[in-house]
Amino acid sequence: MSAVVVVGSANVDLVVDVERPPRAGETVLGGDLRRNPGGKGANQAVAAAVAGGVDTTFVGALGTDEPADLLLASLQGAGVRTDLVDRIDGATGTALITVSSDGENTIVVAPGANARLKLGTPHVKRIAAADVVLAQLEIPLDVVLAAARARRPGAVMALNAAPARDLPDEMWGAIDLLIVNEHEASDLVRTSGPAASKLLERVPAVVVTLGGDGCVVAERGSEPLHIPGIRADVVDTTGAGDTFCGVLAAGLARGLSLPDAARLACAAGALAVTRPGAQGAVPTAAEVASFAGGKAP
Ligand code: RIB
Repeated sequence: MSAVVVVGSANVDLVVDVERPPRAGETVLGGDLRRNPGGKGANQAVAAAVAGGVDTTFVGALGTDEPADLLLASLQGAGVRTDLVDRIDGATGTALITVSSDGENTIVVAPGANARLKLGTPHVKRIAAADVVLAQLEIPLDVVLAAARARRPGAVMALNAAPARDLPDEMWGAIDLLIVNEHEASDLVRTSGPAASKLLERVPAVVVTLGGDGCVVAERGSEPLHIPGIRADVVDTTGAGDTFCGVLAAGLARGLSLPDAARLACAAGALAVTRPGAQGAVPTAAEVASFAGGKAP
């Protein structure tokens, strides 16, 4: 049914603008508190639907509190299918975020309902119908693994390994595409040198994002390819990586090659950093296409 199923987290983002983030033991004064819909999973689902222009389902867990309504409204406003979002007694995930004057952020996540996400038969059926299944690591590992195992033959299981953590062998064997930033890549390989080629020993395809410098696309049997970044005025980098992942997944679901999908994802990520917030910063498919120099899907 859905071209893309995103299995992941949803958080309410509590954001404060600061000149610079506090050092350990230090207090700094910031601007007014903002409350935004966020969470890597929900952000990626919004990006796949809005910037990627494909049919998208979000599989995740929200609490029974008011922030859950904010998240549902944002997902639904973006056209994401939310019929498989579970409501779990207790708090919705919450992220405490600082955004510095250079647009960089710090993020601490209290997982709340995300930590209690489970897959039932309806979730598994929807995943089995998807062209691309996209997950991250703000939900339990066994749920990510179950999602990977539920995909149909020929579908792509993409893992954005964020936040970085050790992955068990069975997870490596279940991933078709790994998407990481440079820090996550070196955390996973634990050696210096070209992380993408090292990661290819464990997964068939890897995309390493390089912020404003674009990304490296590495596939077994081909030379790694550097896709140059598109320079943009940085306002807030929060969620730009999620926009990249959602658009990449949508491109693959539409049948683009990995390098072509990555080109669109770079353009979408570059547009996202020019706007504040995570889901609120996701560009439209038409904006992405014109920024990337092509036609909207
Ligand atoms: O990637 C950005 C996201 O990370 C934020 O929206 C926050 O909720 C955390 O999940």
